Parts: sequence; C-alpha cells; structure tokens
Amino acid sequence: MRRLVQCRPGQPEVGLETVTEPRPGPGHTLIRVEAVGLNRADVLYMQMAERPWRIGIDCAGTVIETDPASDALPVGARVLTHLPGGGAAAEILAVDTPKLVRLPDSVSSVVGAALPLAGLVARRLVRTAGDLRGLRVLITGASGGVGFRWCSWRAKKARKKWLPSCAPASHASICAPPARISA
Ligand SMILES: NC(=O)c1ccc[n+]([C@@H]2O[C@H](COP(=O)([O-])OP(=O)(O)OC[C@H]3O[C@@H](n4cnc5c(N)ncnc54)[C@H](OP(=O)(O)O)[C@@H]3O)[C@@H](O)[C@H]2O)c1
Repeated sequence: MRRLVQCRPGQPEVGLETVTEPRPGPGHTLIRVEAVGLNRADVLYMQMAERPWRIGIDCAGTVIETDPASDALPVGARVLTHLPGGGAAAEILAVDTPKLVRLPDSVSSVVGAALPLAGLVARRLVRTAGDLRGLRVLITGASGGVGFRWCSWRAKKARKKWLPSCAPASHASICAPPARISA
C-alpha cells in the first residue's frame, strides 16, 4: 500500500512511499482511508521534525477488518480518527479501536476528515470559555475551521449575543442555523 511522506526533514517536498500493508494487532481495527485532513500542524511538523514526517493527523474511512476483541465497529462501518503522531495519509491503517469514532451517514468522509483537530480545538475553547450567558462575545476568525465550529455550538445557546467577525462573503453561512455536523 502507499502512504504520503515528507521526503527529507525540514524540506517541503512530499512523496508516495510503498510499504507493506499493516496487520491489525490486538485492540486494532483495520480501515481503508478515504479522506485525509491536512492541518497546519502537518506543515509545522514538517519544518520541525528531525525525521521525515508521516503526513496526516486526521482521516476518515471504512472498516475493512474488525477488532477481534470488540464488535463495536463492524466491517463497512464509516469512521474517523485523530492521530497526533501523524501517518493518517495512507491507504490502509491499523488504528487503536478506541481512537475510532463512527461517522454518521449524513457526513461525508471528506467533511469527516476535516473535523477532528479543528473540532477538538473548538471544543476546548467552548469548555474554556465556560458560561457566556448574558455576555456579548466577539469571535474573530468566525468563518475558519475552528471559529465556524465554535459558532455552530455556541449559536444554539446565545444566537443574538455573539458577533462573528469574518469576510462578508462568509457571513451568511456563519449566521445560518448550526450545521448538522455539530449536532
Ligand atoms: N485548525 C486547527 O486545527 C487549529 C489547531 C490549533 C490552533 N489553531 C489556530 O486557530 C486559529 C484559527 O485556525 P483555523 O484553522 O480556524 O484557520 P482558518 O480556517 O484558516 O480560518 C482563518 C480565519 O481567520 C480570518 N482571518 C484571516 N485573516 C484575517 C485578518 N487579517 N483579520 C481578521 N480575520 C482574519 C478568516 O476570516 P475570513 O477569511 O472569513 O475573512 C477566517 O475566519 C489560528 O490561529 C490557528 O493557528 C487551529
């Protein structure tokens, strides 16, 4: 199978590497990757890492071999995962089963692969911000990957009290009802 790797540490070139298909060990589920999210963190790791960075922190795909110890994710289940150590940009992955999240049918793999890191950052911001009831909140970067999700979650509670800041072309989508992916 093929995977996407940085050619040399610190350099921007990437290439396809052919390696043996992984075999799932105990506690692993084998997935066929359908979409990979490229994050700013990939670029930072490519600049910083001492070894070539294995690209991809977020991906979505389909289960092709189940974890013998778990029947939670059958063959054919659509899943996403977040792999902080990289390596998600591969055709086949053996993933720790608890690190897989089921993807609803309403969310495509492409959308799913864009969710984990930005979504986790937005989630942390929601928690860190705490109870904002009664306050007026200015959200910079509201149309971005993090800001959009933050608005989607917050909008449910305080639609009239937050002021999203973004380009006029993006404003309508931010002010629309929360996206289904945040439900
Ligand atoms: N995405 C992640 O996983 C992640 C993880 C950790 C930290 N972060 C940090 O979170 C922040 C947002 O990341 P993101 O992924 O959401 O970025 P993004 O998707 O690129 O969105 C950038 C946002 O910033 C706005 N923006 C750009 N230039 C601006 C300017 N000069 N003045 C005002 N607004 C401007 C854009 O608004 P318009 O284009 O609509 O005008 C857009 O809403 C960044 O600082 C990033 O480093 C992101």
